[in-house]
Amino acid sequence: MYVCICNAVTEDDVHGCMASGCTTAKAVKAACGFKPGCGLCTKRIHAMVSEYRDSTALADALAGGPHALAAVPEAPLASSPLPAPAQVVHGVGGSDPASSTAA
Ligand code: FES
Repeated sequence: MYVCICNAVTEDDVHGCMASGCTTAKAVKAACGFKPGCGLCTKRIHAMVSEYRDSTALADALAGGPHALAAVPEAPLASSPLPAPAQVVHGVGGSDPASSTAA
C-alpha cells in the first residue's frame, strides 16, 4: 500500500528503510528519495517510525538485545512474597455431591 502518493513510496519501502537503519522520519524520507509534496504522508511516516522503534525495543527487551535496558525499567531484585493461594474446601456441611455415597 502506498504511504506517499506524491512520491510513490510504499509501506514496504518505508519498512525497508527502517530495517536498513533509518530511525527517524527525516532519515526515512531522505533514504526513500522524498521530494516536497503535499505533506499528507508525514503523520503516517512518523507513526510507522514510532511503531517500528517501539517494536524493536520490545523485541530487544524480550531477547536481551542492545536496547533492552533502556526499554524495560529495572525490576527490583527483592520482591514481596506472594499471598498464599486460596484453598477451596469441598463438602463443607455435607452438600458436596462428590463426597456423598449412592445408596
Ligand atoms: S502524500 Fe507524501 S508528499 Fe504528498
